[in-house]
Amino acid sequence: MRNRRKKLAENIPLEKQHLDDIFNETGFNSKNLSIRETNRLATIINNKHNIEFVRMEMGIPNIPTSDIAKEAEKEAIDKGLQGFYPPFDGIPELKKAGCEFAKAFLDLDLENKHIIPTCGSLQGGYISQALAGNMIKGKKTILYLDPTFPVTRYQAKFLGLEAIGIDLYDYRGEKLINEIKKHVVNGQIGGILWSSPNNPSWSCLNDFELKEIADICDTNEILAIEDLAYIGMDFRKDYSVPFSEPFIPTIGKYGKNWITLISASKAFSFPGPRCAIAIISPHINEKKYTNLKKFCDREQFGHAFSLGGLYVTTSGTSHTAQYGLAKMLEAATSGEFNFIEITSEYGRRAEKVKEIFLKYGFEQVYKKDMDETVGNGFYLTMSYPGYGGNDLMLELLRYGISTITLKSTGSVRHEGLRVCISFIGLDEMPTLENKLQKFMEDHK
Ligand SMILES: Cc1ncc(COP(=O)(O)O)c(C=O)c1O
Repeated sequence: MRNRRKKLAENIPLEKQHLDDIFNETGFNSKNLSIRETNRLATIINNKHNIEFVRMEMGIPNIPTSDIAKEAEKEAIDKGLQGFYPPFDGIPELKKAGCEFAKAFLDLDLENKHIIPTCGSLQGGYISQALAGNMIKGKKTILYLDPTFPVTRYQAKFLGLEAIGIDLYDYRGEKLINEIKKHVVNGQIGGILWSSPNNPSWSCLNDFELKEIADICDTNEILAIEDLAYIGMDFRKDYSVPFSEPFIPTIGKYGKNWITLISASKAFSFPGPRCAIAIISPHINEKKYTNLKKFCDREQFGHAFSLGGLYVTTSGTSHTAQYGLAKMLEAATSGEFNFIEITSEYGRRAEKVKEIFLKYGFEQVYKKDMDETVGNGFYLTMSYPGYGGNDLMLELLRYGISTITLKSTGSVRHEGLRVCISFIGLDEMPTLENKLQKFMEDHK
């Protein structure tokens, strides 16, 4: 171990010229790197210059998938279900399990028809944004509560929608609500989209904000799109006991015009099968929009989502994976499978990683969540005095640490980086510490 660390110290930092050469060879634009390009650069630097990387650029889950899912998927395969198309609006088992899960953890009263499986929550977000921007003529703008998972914003672009953002760094509580109202006045907002906990700031919208956003959406015919990709992962509270308070905060408690997306990727360590659920509010599910008829031949919102959106994109979600997710949701609801306790591992990793970054001169960018300290979750946001985000990201590459800029997440805090903690195990903390110590010594 000691030898390995010594070797690392000799290798870092990578000479600037070597990094320039790699940019020349790859043709990547050093001022506008995508997550995949950063990932590729880290691999090239590692292979060419023998610099070991602490990978912090991709938001990939890194906890083994539960046997509950594996067994259920195997059983479905053994029954030959991969040989059959699934019902495109979901198998009854998953619709029922989703409905009961929503009661147990969100305290929502729904029917099975309000649960629609999607290919990852990204597909749910894609269809939701498409409908939000086409429900009512002239409302083609999506308002994001930034920072935002970059892919979500790319979707709006791909769909030909307009996008604007309000940064949660500057606007929370009453101030956030007033700012949303200012934007809504022009009548062009079709959807408001946020993730909570937020990727990457880990801010969590509170009940006051959710209630007010719900009111704004309902009065102004706007679709609220709530992305719960990290459901239950605000570890400052214990949301792990089904059917008991505190329940996970959701727009569903307050509004009528909403969709809530629940990803299985992080909370259930189930990213591969691309299987999530979208919960459509009972009210909007039935509601008719003449403009949707023009857009996708279906006037009723619920039909537009499944027959209009899901059917024409993927015609449903992996048949066998739906059984895996259904069984995990069932087990979570019955209290047998504590998915929140399992993911709290990320909180422990984040706490340690944060401590190391701060020790070596970094500053946490989004460190407050209203009046409280932001929780430790899947991401951290970090800056270093005197550095802009892009330069800092490139500089850290020379030390074998890969991150992405906060700018690429729509954040106004251009000095910062998004640091994903999922790939660093507790045993790798000394490697990270070595690198950051060296970085600080070289950048005093
Ligand atoms: C905020 C947010 N939404 C959605 C997703 C994608 O979820 P899925 O894998 O279910 O498509 C992610 C993944 O990183 C995310 O961070």
